[in-house]
Amino acid sequence: MRIFREKDYDGMSRRAADILGAQLLMKPDCVLGLATGSTPVGMYDLASGGYSRGELDFSRAATVNLDEYKGLAPDDPQSYHRFMREHLFSRVNLCPERCYLPDGAAPDPDAECRRYDALLDALGGPDLQVLGIGRNGHIGFNEPSDAFSCGTHCVRLTQSTLEANRRFFAREEDVPRMAYTMGIRNILRAGAVLLLASGGDKAEAVHLAFDGPVTPRVPASALQLHPNVILVGDEAALRLLQRK
Ligand code: PGA
Repeated sequence: MRIFREKDYDGMSRRAADILGAQLLMKPDCVLGLATGSTPVGMYDLASGGYSRGELDFSRAATVNLDEYKGLAPDDPQSYHRFMREHLFSRVNLCPERCYLPDGAAPDPDAECRRYDALLDALGGPDLQVLGIGRNGHIGFNEPSDAFSCGTHCVRLTQSTLEANRRFFAREEDVPRMAYTMGIRNILRAGAVLLLASGGDKAEAVHLAFDGPVTPRVPASALQLHPNVILVGDEAALRLLQRK
């Protein structure tokens, strides 16, 4: 595992964008596993800037996102489809037909999970998977539980996650209770994992994930089993991390 300790959010975003850019240069037809949330927004901004300046070319890449709210259609303003369009897809030369997310409006949830797993299999999994981390140690929407999940599945979001997501919605009752997410096994198949963490409210989760035991009570701890994890965090988020 490699750890980059950056001063602040901007430093974290810069480092993360450099790693994303290096992945694209190394393998232009790579599969990028992408994440939503506040944490990667700065990285997406910098990557978009890199494209505008002619430094980055996304034209041969494909993307797979970790998760999507169940019940929200791709054009719903709160959907992760929309988030990705706004923060990255519309700003770079990714081919829209090769940008994949679970379909929150799919009529048959089991079939949708199978479809997404088949897609991940067909793509061979991400070359680089970007992750944020929840305050409860979740990655994607893999919430703390009694067992690590395997493939794409539907989850009931925990109270901690609902509270964290609340800031994006006008009313509490609008926050979706369920989501589709890649499973831990899907995530561990990535060639490399780029975990981003910013802010003091992530410090405990980062500490438990990498200094504690591998346990499904802290889903991110599964990353200890992955041979190529790059943790990029700011000082506040890495404040409690003991691992060097
Ligand atoms: P955040 O979410 O980037 O909005 O903090 C991260 C996560 O919950 O995985």
